[in-house]
Amino acid sequence: MELLKINHLITYFNITAGTVRAVDDVSLTLDYGESLGLVGESGCGKTTTALSITQLLPTEGNIVSGEILLEGKNIVDLNDTEIKRVRWKEVSMIFQGAMNALNPVMKIGDQIAEAIILHDKLSYKDAIKRVEELFELVELEPKRIFNYPHEFSGGMKQRAMIAMALACNPKLVIGDEPTTALDVMVQAQILNLLDKLRKELNMGIILITHDLSILGETCDKIAIMYAGKIVETGYVEDIYNNNMHPYTYKLLSSFPNIHKERVMPDAIVGIPPDLINPPSGCRFHPRCPYAKDVCSTEEPKMVLANKDHYYACHFGGVFNEK
Ligand SMILES: Nc1ncnc2c1ncn2[C@@H]1O[C@H](COP(=O)(O)OP(=O)(O)OP(=O)(O)O)[C@@H](O)[C@H]1O
Ligand code: SF4
Ligand SMILES: [Mg+2]
Repeated sequence: MELLKINHLITYFNITAGTVRAVDDVSLTLDYGESLGLVGESGCGKTTTALSITQLLPTEGNIVSGEILLEGKNIVDLNDTEIKRVRWKEVSMIFQGAMNALNPVMKIGDQIAEAIILHDKLSYKDAIKRVEELFELVELEPKRIFNYPHEFSGGMKQRAMIAMALACNPKLVIGDEPTTALDVMVQAQILNLLDKLRKELNMGIILITHDLSILGETCDKIAIMYAGKIVETGYVEDIYNNNMHPYTYKLLSSFPNIHKERVMPDAIVGIPPDLINPPSGCRFHPRCPYAKDVCSTEEPKMVLANKDHYYACHFGGVFNEK
């Protein structure tokens, strides 16, 4: 049984301007100890997918249909009390810019202990002992648990947030841009730390990012998202070297490659569509340099290219034709 299996998830936001089709038929699987990178431009539905899994959607957001099976149990059907038990203990999330969410007037160790006391019902003394273990795990000195947030650097604060996410031994951790606010060296250290923890604790990790170039070393699989849909998914090797979807190809070309000839990265022309009125057919067609008539009328189905490598395009690999 997989750790996580998402089947045909649809999550919409109902706002006065209309219905935002933020996640529109997304399916994913993740095994124990596996890491998946979820990548795509701003507004494509990455955070909404994560908030659907953790069921932390704002009131205007609703899971319309689909299943989210965590160890085989559909968590979409759980009531509030049941979902609170799942959050933290089975799945936890490190938010975009989370380190700024630390309470500036409370010692960091106490903030983590508070979560442990609430969810694991430990005494304060035992919770602090657990915080010390967690600090060791995320490579912070245990004696720093009684520091305040302003005494920590950005990287240290993010390590503390990871410790908090691990506080109740979750099986799945979702990092939503967990390194965006950090400089590249610290970014690499945090990604390596998450990778180490995943292997040591056999956790599943979903890493959300705009930046495809940082995933090669730390992820097993990648899912590329565009306008609320997964357009290509597969092992890192296939996504980097045998990609079939024009959007993946363009996304990869839009990052500079230090191993290749020095050329200007190739930007993707145009902007992602408005998800209240997404384009018909293939949602990428207004920006796709390879679009033909059928692309604006028929939605492409997922096609199997290789083991666990799927793409949704009527003309997969078209960019390789001379
Ligand atoms: N609370 C909300 N109300 C209405 N629309 C929303 C809400 N939150 C997100 N959306 C819309 O849903 C779509 C998906 O947004 P989401 O935040 O999931 O994208 P994202 O891929 O995480 O983007 P980013 O990379 O900028 O974080 C966007 O069109 C966004 O405007
Ligand atoms: S289906 Fe058509 S528009 Fe969509 S990515 Fe493929 S070629 Fe481009
Ligand atoms: Mg986001």
